[in-house]
Amino acid sequence: MTDQTKDRVFIFDTTLRDGEQSPGATMTHEEKLEIAEMLEDMGVDIIEAGFPIASEGDFAAVNEIAKRSRESVICGLARAQPADIDRCWEAIKAAPRPRIHTFIGTSPLHRAIPDLTMDEMAERIHETVTHARNICDNVQWSPMDATRTEWDYLCRVVEIAIKAGATTINIPDTVGYTAPVESADLIRRLIATVPGADEVIFSTHCHNDLGMATANALAAVEGGARQIECTINGLGERAGNTALEEVVMAMRTRGDIIPFDTGIDTRKIMQISRRVSTVSGFPVQYNKAIVGKNAFAHESGIHQDGMLKNAETFEIMRPEDVGLAATSLVMGKHSGRAALRAKLKDLGVELGDNQLKDTFVRFKELADRKKEVYDEDILALVTATMADEQANHLDIVSLRVACGTGGPAEATLEMEVGGETMTTTEEGDGPVDATFKAVRKLYPNEARLQLYQVHAVTEGTDAQATVSVRLEEDGKIATGQSADTDTVVASARAYVNALNRLYVRRSKTGGDVKEISYKDVS
Ligand code: KIV
Ligand code: ZN
Repeated sequence: MTDQTKDRVFIFDTTLRDGEQSPGATMTHEEKLEIAEMLEDMGVDIIEAGFPIASEGDFAAVNEIAKRSRESVICGLARAQPADIDRCWEAIKAAPRPRIHTFIGTSPLHRAIPDLTMDEMAERIHETVTHARNICDNVQWSPMDATRTEWDYLCRVVEIAIKAGATTINIPDTVGYTAPVESADLIRRLIATVPGADEVIFSTHCHNDLGMATANALAAVEGGARQIECTINGLGERAGNTALEEVVMAMRTRGDIIPFDTGIDTRKIMQISRRVSTVSGFPVQYNKAIVGKNAFAHESGIHQDGMLKNAETFEIMRPEDVGLAATSLVMGKHSGRAALRAKLKDLGVELGDNQLKDTFVRFKELADRKKEVYDEDILALVTATMADEQANHLDIVSLRVACGTGGPAEATLEMEVGGETMTTTEEGDGPVDATFKAVRKLYPNEARLQLYQVHAVTEGTDAQATVSVRLEEDGKIATGQSADTDTVVASARAYVNALNRLYVRRSKTGGDVKEISYKDVS
């Protein structure tokens, strides 16, 4: 089948809503704007930018994304309540193409929470979709937990929503319960049964609790859905959502049996995957399809031999199709700024002049310590540079650590706190513990450590370590990142980076505490 005869499937990205709502994946205002811009650049049709009534921070981010948007439809989530819908509209109305997405849980378990009878809920759906449609001509409606909703009732409420003016009907598999045959069948039967179904777009929204989200989404398309809701790296509640990169590359690679087009520029996939991983603090598993570190690595001798003779022996997609540089130009201490700029361009990273200057300084420092600087090293440097420039209430001046057998570790830390330089020496159970204690001594705080994670960027004992630290304080969550060949230094910087972020959030009104969750359905 040629491209001309393929049907179009719309890509609805909810990284900034369902993805960001997953515990710990909180992004800052600026990060949300940056991700939205990247999503738009890669050709996402609809961006679900947030849940405006959830918090002042959510509202501000959705509103700013709406103002900056060009082509993509900007969608905001709203519960089935007029006040939610009005708040959502306030946030998105500046977009050239706004969409209100309103929803209510329709399965028996979800109906029990607001304690509505079937008739009362049907009436609520009619009123709220009508309300949304009276203010916006692009309205999406979702029966949350659709896959566990009684068939007759599901048909009834979908019909009500269509009659009330919904233009997209999204069918969520909220708990990741369905299986591919069922997913295709459900959409097919809804389209065949519900009056008016042919006038709207059917959409699928799958969670990955049983690892079937991608298969279920593609099966729904087979059944007639023409919008897939998904997130970058499959980010999302519990086991996450359908991964954008997986459905898009499946349709592209297997166009012979899944003959659908999307508007996605697949060469931007790696870049956005890395950025979402960094800002959310959720690492991508090494063997993750499409974007995992090993997705295009061929380790075994037999595979490498085959690859050298003909890449197609073991490769069904070309790495460059997802934005992985075809050749890896290794950098070293003689590489200049122009080479670094070219390398960053290859990696799909665009930096401002000052950021490039700072990254170059770090690159030189690293190249002095490490013979070969790989792509992964450079990406880690960029992450660390960006993390450091975000806020600097706290700044590490120097750190010396003594550790080993025969006694507790000891860290001597010199740190600037609000412009004043202070020093302390603390003991701890290992060098990281001693260092974190020293930070807390100089900057007493109540932040709880939720996650401390270390990854070696490349092979070898001189590899850089990337460290993520996630902290929680009064419901506010902040993730800090850093990278260094010294794991303790990277840990200290990541910890201080997370504290700086909490500091910024504390001093700003709003922040990203979700006062309301989308699970508060009443
Ligand atoms: O999983 C779900 O049901 C949702 C809805 C709000 C669409 O995210
Ligand atoms: Zn969801």
